[in-house]
This record gives sequence, structure tokens and C-alpha cells, in this order.
Amino acid sequence: MSLRQMRPPAIQVIVARTDEELCAWGLHCFVETLQQRPDAVISLTTGRTTAGLYRTVREWHARGQTNLSPARFVSSEEYAGIGADDPISLFGWLRHEVLDPLGVSVYSAIRMSGNAADLGNECRRFDATIEQMGGVDLVIQSIGANGHFGFNEPGATRDAPSRVVTLAPSTVRSNAAYWPPDIQVPTRGLTMGVDATLRARHILLLAAGATKAEAIARAVQGPIDEDAPCSLLRLAPRLTIIADEAAAARLDGAGSWHT
Ligand code: GLP
Repeated sequence: MSLRQMRPPAIQVIVARTDEELCAWGLHCFVETLQQRPDAVISLTTGRTTAGLYRTVREWHARGQTNLSPARFVSSEEYAGIGADDPISLFGWLRHEVLDPLGVSVYSAIRMSGNAADLGNECRRFDATIEQMGGVDLVIQSIGANGHFGFNEPGATRDAPSRVVTLAPSTVRSNAAYWPPDIQVPTRGLTMGVDATLRARHILLLAAGATKAEAIARAVQGPIDEDAPCSLLRLAPRLTIIADEAAAARLDGAGSWHT
């Protein structure tokens, strides 16, 4: 019996009334992880939803003198063909939003280089590094309108390793809005796999806005299958979903509950 089967999964859904509340709950998970283990491994994603949480984390860090140097941070996605110094690098985004303000050395961050000579090998190296570190303590993710997380698009299997993927057209369109109109967003990406994500001790999934309502309802109350990759997150040892009211609108009995 695997460890995952022995421990019943715990799922908590929190519906936040405001952006501030959503970010405050997210900060609570972040701080709790570091209190339990100062050298925790924390995986970060990019996008509009997590931007508010990262602002809250920066403010928290600026208020106190928490030494984050023992913590280890993972960047869970990158665009294929994009180097860390490229203006649209997702690792560059994380540096700007989180790592640099928190004083985390870029050399200690675990990431996949989008311009490595052999991208498949780069993904395998990434998975091996995470395994050597003993897995991830906290994965921070946000849901895509098509139910993806990271770049694990519909069709991703529960044992999918970190790998190079073709992005769904809706993901490319949604990501294009992050950058100036003249910038072409790559159509392929490297993503932390479903398997490494599910092995994390705690997954925090954020969702904001009405465009995520259907995906959240499907992830929380639909069948656990590959058509809705976020539904697979229910197989993890511990999953916390924080949704604003618009994103939670299609949940039955929306509120806070445990299984
Ligand atoms: C990017 C991330 C995904 C995330 C998505 C949601 O594509 N790679 O992990 O699900 O953004 O983005 P947003 O929060 O901007 O809606």
C-alpha cells in the first residue's frame, strides 16, 4: 500500500468574500508551511491569480524579519525556447514578483530552463532534483478556465512526469494577455508533472473570477479524471482550494467543508 493510500486525503474548500481574504488565506498556508519546516520546499506558479498572493507575501516579509534562506523554491513552469533572462520568462516573473523581494538566491531556485539543449532531459533532471530533496511541501497553483494547472492541460494523466507540452489554444490566449500585444507567446511549455504535484504534502489551489467557476465545480465535484486535470489534485494527501465567490458560484453547498 502506498503512503498516499494509507493516508485519507483531506480536502478543504474555502470561499473568500474579497481578494484580500483570498490572499490572507493563501498567506496563512505559506506561513504555516514555513513554521512547520523552515527549510520547506515550496513550488510557485505565475498568473494573475497568484499575483495578489505574492504581493501579500511580500508585504508580510517586509513587516517582519523572517529569514527565508533555509526555504527552497521551485518554479513549476517555463515556456519552451525561453531563457531565464528573456522578458517573458516565467522564472523571470517569479524572480520579480517573489524571489528577489524575499531575498531568495536565484541559484537556489529549482527550475526547468526553457532554452536547455535537451528539454526532455531538463524535465527529467527537474523531477530527479525534486525527488532528491524529498518532494515538495507546498505546491501553489491556480486553475485555468479549461481545468488545467501549471501546464498540465486536459488529457494529462495522474502519473504524468514533468515534461514538454503543447499548450491549449485557450492557455496561449490567456497567457498572451500578460504581455504587450507585440509579444508572441510560445505554444509549448515545460511543466512540473501531475505525479510530482500529487506527491506534495500540501497543494494550495487558487481560483478567482467567474471564468473559473465551471472549472472549479468540475474539479471539486466532478469525476476525478484527465479531462479536468485539477480534479486529479483530489488524490493528493492534502488539498486546500481557495476560491472567490465568483469562482465558487457553481459549487453545491459552497462554504468550507472537509472530506
Ligand atoms: C498560467 C499558469 C497556470 C495557471 C494559469 C492561470 O498559465 N502557468 O498554472 O493555471 O496561469 O492563470 P491566471 O491566474 O492568470 O488566470
